[in-house]
Amino acid sequence: MPMIRLDTKNIASERLGKEHGIDTAREFSAWAKKLDGFVADLRKRKTDPKAMLGWIDLPENNGELAAIETYAAQLDEKFTDLIVLGIGGSSLGALTVVTALQHPYRNLQAQGQGLRVHFVDNVDPDVIKGLSEVLNPQTTLVNVISKSGTTAETMSAYLAFKQWLQDAVGEAYKKQIIATTDPEAGILRPLARREGYTTFEVPPSVGGRFSVLSAVGLLPIALAGIDLRELLRGAAAANAMIEKPIAENPIKQSALIQYLAYRRGKAISVLMPYSTRLRYLSNWYVQLWAESLGKAVNRDGSLVNEGSTPLAALGATDQHSQVQLFNEGPNNKIVTFVRVANFDNETLIPDAEPGVAQLSYLAKQSFNRLINAEQSATAHAIAAHGRPNYTIELKRLDAYNLGFLLQFFEWQTALMGELTYIDTYNQPGVELGKKYTYALMGREGYEDLRKELEEAGI
Ligand code: PA5
Repeated sequence: MPMIRLDTKNIASERLGKEHGIDTAREFSAWAKKLDGFVADLRKRKTDPKAMLGWIDLPENNGELAAIETYAAQLDEKFTDLIVLGIGGSSLGALTVVTALQHPYRNLQAQGQGLRVHFVDNVDPDVIKGLSEVLNPQTTLVNVISKSGTTAETMSAYLAFKQWLQDAVGEAYKKQIIATTDPEAGILRPLARREGYTTFEVPPSVGGRFSVLSAVGLLPIALAGIDLRELLRGAAAANAMIEKPIAENPIKQSALIQYLAYRRGKAISVLMPYSTRLRYLSNWYVQLWAESLGKAVNRDGSLVNEGSTPLAALGATDQHSQVQLFNEGPNNKIVTFVRVANFDNETLIPDAEPGVAQLSYLAKQSFNRLINAEQSATAHAIAAHGRPNYTIELKRLDAYNLGFLLQFFEWQTALMGELTYIDTYNQPGVELGKKYTYALMGREGYEDLRKELEEAGI
């Protein structure tokens, strides 16, 4: 079983009082049956591909795993770098895992574990140009990832990097582009077939933000030299845990805490890992939470404008930034801390200034002790200010525990969607902005919107 521990003492009403705290024993037992019912219902609904619940099965039943492992194992040793072209759910999962599990400065190493991975998840002209200036096209692979195969940001970057490869290596570019997309829908699939690219499938029943354990995430993660089987084994442990009753189930507890806090006016859900390697976990969480749970209407079509607002923070860095607001600003947040009990390295703080009395309390201790002392201190201080927070402790940061944590948050999000009775898996709110962009870029069929924008002076 995964080595995680959920510490909920800083959300308890004994600690925070009735207004801001939660009577965990009473609430856990009051909601137990309902949560069990949600899990059973999600498992039942997942047989319908349109329900978009395919993410549940990815840990145990992953259609692309063997093909991805074979591709990674047979890769020509000349390749040193991988560019990942994708946005939102087609980028953040792999970014999170690769950043957490490769050497923290892998991209500065000539040799090391797996390829150096570069994520292009924006259309910043300087970044696109800059990356093409520093990488060697002879030894670089490009993985274009778009489930829909139509996303403007990803497809424009594809056009740029395809040209970059073609100019440098000629026809060999076909062997250096890998496309990850829907088995049928969108333009990327037929285009990849025509070009003869290696392709991997995003199952139609898996939405972007829930796709980290599909080929979307697994291919870059494998090419980064990370053990996919351990990652999936950890995620499968979360699938096993979700079946347990709430008393033994940190996932259900965490989902319910989020819900009860939200209903009591904690409209902002902060994720604050105390690990630089987990910094993108917060961005991944923000996207998963925001795009899944922020909805205008509920499942009956009534206007509800539902959604708790996720906020990314990083410990200890944000102790010198957002923590001031967390402690003294509006009491409208719930903070989830993530901490790592055992870091890969035990890094000592040397006694390099023996004469300086003010630094003597640090000398001969470890950074390990310091970072976790800072986390405990901040959690306690936030509670002392009457604000709810709880802590997820990972025994160590490895593929198994990270796989567990990703599936943990996917279940938590799914349960929050059930509790708030919205459609977790659609994203109608991002469409209008896309259409205005098409209109501004002169895409055929968007002339009316173009006119509207011109009238608005845009
Ligand atoms: O979660 C989602 O569905 C989105 O964030 C998508 O992942 C994002 O819009 C990219 O979509 P696509 O993979 O179709 O290019």
